Amino acid sequence: MERKAALLDIKKVSQSRIHEVDFNNLPFGKVYSDHMMYCDFVDGEWQRPQVVPYGPMQFDPSTKVFHYGQAVFEGMKAFKDDNDQVWLFRPERNFERINKSSKRLAIPEFPKDYFFESLKALITLDHDWVKKGQGNSLYIRPFVIATEKGVAAAPSTSYRFMIITCPAQAYYNKAVKVLFSEKYSRAASGGVGFAKAAGNYGAQFYPTNLAKEKGYEQVIWTDADKHEYLEEAGTMNIFFRINDKLVTAPTNERILKGVTRASVIQLAKDNGIEVEVGPVKVKRIVEAAEKGELKEIFGAGTAATIAQVTGFEYQNKYHDLPEVENPYNVFFKSKLQDIQYNRTEDPHGWRYAI
Ligand code: COI
Repeated sequence: MERKAALLDIKKVSQSRIHEVDFNNLPFGKVYSDHMMYCDFVDGEWQRPQVVPYGPMQFDPSTKVFHYGQAVFEGMKAFKDDNDQVWLFRPERNFERINKSSKRLAIPEFPKDYFFESLKALITLDHDWVKKGQGNSLYIRPFVIATEKGVAAAPSTSYRFMIITCPAQAYYNKAVKVLFSEKYSRAASGGVGFAKAAGNYGAQFYPTNLAKEKGYEQVIWTDADKHEYLEEAGTMNIFFRINDKLVTAPTNERILKGVTRASVIQLAKDNGIEVEVGPVKVKRIVEAAEKGELKEIFGAGTAATIAQVTGFEYQNKYHDLPEVENPYNVFFKSKLQDIQYNRTEDPHGWRYAI
């Protein structure tokens, strides 16, 4: 069925696929809900967004995105409360960030009303794909790709903005062990580290595979200069708890300005937990671990939420983290989830009703 909403066109699926899905067994990012949105940039303008049945698309093999990686993306989540109301979490931040990422990759910025109207239309149509209950969410992946044909190394003149959504549970099924990077880097000053550029992620796969061979799920990337400072984990920003103080790297041109990261810092302040936002020396963390002062490490990201780290390796030495009473990672996760699932007040206005 086709209809025209104020800003977009909607073509619904003739039959939902929802009954084929085992919602109790969802590998992250494998199962997509019924509808998706696309919007093309042609002749210098974003055209009317189209909400259509989820499905494959065809592109010419010379399409620029395949050759030069001119692509950016976002990660967001929708949560359903006990009254069936669906909420987004701080979506303005994702909107601002995708346009910041786009600008760095020479991609035209996307209009705000198209972004929010498309999200509302998609999530309203696929309301049943958002499951209630702790840990359940709808992961939302907006992205933009360069669609011009031809391998000349120049910015594309056409783009496609898309939003796809998938029901999601935990990204990491257990606490993770990490490797502090001594050789590889994720980003350099002047580069694209702050942007959610597709290539930032692809470039991590090889060194992360090497870490996996040694039994580590993730790498904590260090600065490209001297590998002296801990920066971020790639799928998440990273926090260290030294005694009772929370320490995290400042965002800069190499580090992603994470929405979950900013929320943890705010929640820490709200709850009287001291936070230090400043460069985090590897040496300081290793010494704190050796003295027993390093109580916790955890990652913060949209997909990962809060991911506990149980230990790290640096210079071929493994440092196990202690089990602590009232861990911060559990505290922040539950504070965040209480807001996300509308189980508590929302003093900072982070929830956005769909
Ligand atoms: C997210 O947390 O949404 C991310 O974008 C990380 C991702 C690569 C899974």
